[in-house]
Amino acid sequence: MVILGIETSCDETSAAILEKHDNQITLKSNIVASSLAIHQQTGGIIPENAAREQIKYILPVIQEALDAAKMQISHINAIAVTYGPGLIGSLLVGVETAKTLAYATGKPIIPVNHMLGHVYANWITSHPVISRSNATRDPEEISHSVRNDRNIEFPALALVVSGGHTDLVFFENHHNYRILGGTRDDAAGEAFDKIARLIGLSYPGGPIIEEKAKKGDPKRFTFPRPLVGSGDYDFSFSGLKTAVLREVQNLKTLDDQTVCDLARATQDAIISVLVKKTLKAAIEYDVKSILLSGGVAANETLQQAFIQNTKYQIPDTKFFAPAKNLCTDNGAMIAAAAFYQYNPLPWQEITADPQLYFE
Ligand code: KG4
Ligand code: ZN
Repeated sequence: MVILGIETSCDETSAAILEKHDNQITLKSNIVASSLAIHQQTGGIIPENAAREQIKYILPVIQEALDAAKMQISHINAIAVTYGPGLIGSLLVGVETAKTLAYATGKPIIPVNHMLGHVYANWITSHPVISRSNATRDPEEISHSVRNDRNIEFPALALVVSGGHTDLVFFENHHNYRILGGTRDDAAGEAFDKIARLIGLSYPGGPIIEEKAKKGDPKRFTFPRPLVGSGDYDFSFSGLKTAVLREVQNLKTLDDQTVCDLARATQDAIISVLVKKTLKAAIEYDVKSILLSGGVAANETLQQAFIQNTKYQIPDTKFFAPAKNLCTDNGAMIAAAAFYQYNPLPWQEITADPQLYFE
């Protein structure tokens, strides 16, 4: 089966073509057009700007995905599209385009929850697990991560860490899942973005904080680990942001080393909370797999912290993370989710739902 996946929930415009044979999902193409340069000028996403760009990109991006896969629309068996959560104007661009395509071609259309899409990026088989750019990585760690064979077993625990969400979701199987906890205020990605702005770094904050943190002194600053010891699985990162703000106000100037040190302390605090809470839930719910998902999953230091801690604390549990380019928003993850959650609807019944959560 071949599915065209369309994703336009936030600032990216993406289309991808995936093919599934048995349990192998092969990525034929994945085109992502970003209006990042525009958002960098404004220091964040202005929804109207994002949607205006997406209207321009959507048809060329779909055509490019077909061309890159060496396919025509007639080769596609179904169309999958993100219908929420996200920005209403952005969602509408993808949803209305997908509905029009479904109407014109008579192909089935599957509405996909963006958050589930992030989780299903973990099922895409034809991609390297994590980048092997770090040649100094301990071979034992690599062999542990190589167990990342995409042979995901249930029960599984997904940590969805994106710009808008920090959720722990327990999956009994593909169809039964429930939220164990979520963010009470800022999501992890939002914390990276807001703190980056506080210390003079550009948008999006996550990648640049990760880069600066590599040169940072881990001992110079220590920031709070919010809710790390709470009995539940909720997260809160707004206190961390306030702590960084106070530190910035105390410092007279922010030289480059200080920015690196602040980035390091910020990243350490976020990683520590994410790893501790996820492993606690993994032990309590006795899961066989942990699935890191969402834009923040692209953080290699976070992936390494999960690999090491899983190996030492729960060696029988497999840890999975999508390939780096499949962590942030993309059409491939939407098609991947549709293979396993294959629920086509008449196109007339599909509407964008900006507030959608995990049903
Ligand atoms: O999943 P995503 O692409 O969009 C949403 O659905 O929100 O996530 C975007 C978020 C941004 O907050 C960005 O700063 C964060 O993912 N992010 C990272 C990294 N790459 C992207 N956070 C930490 N480290 C990274 N390398
Ligand atoms: Zn996302």
